[in-house]
Amino acid sequence: MDKDVTTEGNMKHILTAEQFSHSQLYEIFDRADNFRETDGSLYSRRQNMELHFGRIMLSMFYEPSTRTRFSFELAAKKLGMEVVGTENAALFSSAAKGETLEDTIHVFNEYGIDAIALRTKEEGLARRAAAVSNVPILNGGDGKGEHPTQAVLDAHTVHSELGSLENKNYVFVGDNYHSRVVSSDSVVFSTFPGNTITSVSIPELHMRPEVKAKIVANGAQYHETTSLYEALESADVVLVGRLQVERLAESDIRLTEEEIRRKQEALQINNAAMNHMHENAILLHPLPKLKYDIDPEVDADSRAKYFRQAGNGLYVRMAMLDMLMQEADAREPEL
Ligand code: NCD
Repeated sequence: MDKDVTTEGNMKHILTAEQFSHSQLYEIFDRADNFRETDGSLYSRRQNMELHFGRIMLSMFYEPSTRTRFSFELAAKKLGMEVVGTENAALFSSAAKGETLEDTIHVFNEYGIDAIALRTKEEGLARRAAAVSNVPILNGGDGKGEHPTQAVLDAHTVHSELGSLENKNYVFVGDNYHSRVVSSDSVVFSTFPGNTITSVSIPELHMRPEVKAKIVANGAQYHETTSLYEALESADVVLVGRLQVERLAESDIRLTEEEIRRKQEALQINNAAMNHMHENAILLHPLPKLKYDIDPEVDADSRAKYFRQAGNGLYVRMAMLDMLMQEADAREPEL
C-alpha cells in the first residue's frame, strides 16, 4: 500500500477504496452518524462550523457531478471551511489552455489552502495530483478508475440499513465494466468475511479482470450471470449502475450505446423484478439513475434506499474531511 495514502491510523489523502482499514471505516461511520444527528439543530450546526473555521477547500471538477460536488462543498461549509472552485474545470480553468494537472496543483500549493476535492476524466490523475500536492487530495472519481468516497458512503449505507457488512450477497447490476463505483465498492465489500459478489450484466460488461482479481484476492466469492431474477432472489444488497455512455468512445468494448441498451433491456429493475428480492434486501444506486436502470415506480418501494444513500454521502464526506483536517491540525502543533 502506498505510504502516502495511509500510515498507521492516519490518512493523508483519499485516493483509493483500498486504503481504508475496517477500523477507519467504522470510525468514519460513527462520525457520519454524529454529523447527521447534529445537523438537525441549528445550535449544533453552528458548533460544527467551528471545527475547521479558517480552512479552505478547493473544488475542481473536470467531469459533471451533482452529488459528489455538492456534498463535498456542503461538507466543507458545514465544517466551517470556505470553498473556492469550479464545477467545470475542463472549461473554466487553464486545463482548457493545455495546462497539466501537476502545474495546476503546484500553483494551488502556493495559495495557502487546506484540501482539494478533485474529479477527473482520466484514470490515475488523483494519484498524480497527490504526488505533487502538499495538502490532502480527495478523489471524487478519476475516470473509470476509482470513486473511494462513494465506496465508503455505500458501505455506510449497507452498515446502517443491515447492521453489518459481513456474510452478504452483493449483486451489482448494469455496466460493471466501466463503472468506478463498482470497482471501488466491490473492493471494499470483498474485504469483509463471508461475502459473495455477483455481477449481473450483458456478457461484455461484467467487471474488469483487475477488479475481479482484487475481489478474489480479498477472499470473497465472485460470480457473473446474465440472469437478473435469479441473482435478485439471493441478494442482500443490490447496487444498480448507469451505462457509462461517456466512456464508450474510448472503451475497448466495441458496442454502441443503442446495442447495449437493447441487450440490457431485461436488466431493468421494476416492480416485477423487485418481487424477486426478499423483504429485507436493499436496493442502492449511486445516482443519477435513468429509466433504463430503475423504473420510477420502484421509488415507492421501502427497500429502495438510493435517496437516503445520497444523503449519507454528505455526512460521510463530512466525516472524512473532518478526519483529514484533524490530522492536518495535529501536524501544526502551534494550533
Ligand atoms: C457516479 C459517478 O460519477 O461515478 N455518480 C456519483 O458520483 N454519485 C455514478 C455515475 O455517474 O453513473
